[in-house]
Amino acid sequence: MRKKVILITGACGEIGHALVDYLIENSDLPVVTLDLQDASPEIVDKVIHVKGSVTDKSLFDRLISEYEIDIIYHLAALLSTSAEFNPVAAHNVNVEGTLMLLEMAASQTEFRGKPVKFIFPSSIAAYGMPDLETKTQFPNVKEWEWNYPTTMYGANKLYCEMLGIYFSDHFKQLAEIRPVTLDFRAIRFPGLISAFTLPSGGTTDYGPEMLHAAAKGETYNCFVREDSAIPFMAMPDAVKSLTLLAEAPDEKIKKRVYNISAFSLLASEFREEVLKYFPEAKIGYQIHPQRQKIIDSWPIGCDDTAAQEDWGWSADYGLERCFEEYLVPNIKKRYE
Ligand code: SER
Repeated sequence: MRKKVILITGACGEIGHALVDYLIENSDLPVVTLDLQDASPEIVDKVIHVKGSVTDKSLFDRLISEYEIDIIYHLAALLSTSAEFNPVAAHNVNVEGTLMLLEMAASQTEFRGKPVKFIFPSSIAAYGMPDLETKTQFPNVKEWEWNYPTTMYGANKLYCEMLGIYFSDHFKQLAEIRPVTLDFRAIRFPGLISAFTLPSGGTTDYGPEMLHAAAKGETYNCFVREDSAIPFMAMPDAVKSLTLLAEAPDEKIKKRVYNISAFSLLASEFREEVLKYFPEAKIGYQIHPQRQKIIDSWPIGCDDTAAQEDWGWSADYGLERCFEEYLVPNIKKRYE
């Protein structure tokens, strides 16, 4: 008998780090982690770690010969800024890696006659506001509005959402007897802020970078204008949303892609918030025009009514609580 497990790809990344910690404590199933890097010493004895790439088919063939994968959290991706430096490599990881994993989940689903749950972090990058005027006019976008991404990463995420919907709802649609299909569920995340890790290669990174630099006593130059507005969220809320969505009973899931939101703020407000707790911090601005353009194309906020109504989503951390109770105490401890 193969052992039933949860699989997390990109397990050593920002979300992975927090999600793995949570699942080690709270899941009945063993956790298989997959990443290009070695597992950190803190988790290495608590998970089954596989070092490798999501583009390596032979690795997945090996995995399914040993394990029955019940839930997949597919976190591995090249983020928006990194992806612009090598769009084809990004497509390879973000799209082809996802397609391979969807195929594996589909055949696992058929084989065991029960849907594999496929939990996918999508992003505000799936939106593309044409100009600042429109961005201001529509500050709270719904899932199906303004789906015109301008980045490779955003296009990859939007397309993978569609692949997920296809594999769940239309897979083998011409077959006389349609097989059981996998259960794809996605969340469009805002910029995430963790007290324990720094993001790399994202465009929302100016928020967390500002804060971590301040805690370390380093000078920081924010790469977007002070009036740049996007939504952010504390990492514990991101983990909560993924696990809540994964656990939601089927009858509650009315759509396959959900916005979630916590708080939106201007870069200048982010700076003010950091200065409240680190009054000595030296935070200036040095605008990177291309990264600015990406941020300008992302919405100010996302309407998460559907997630609230369907599976009871609500953020635990508003702006104040996020800084006061989660970010600042933990970051201070970290850099002490
Ligand atoms: N944080 C991501 C990025 O900046 C967006 O989801 O690429």
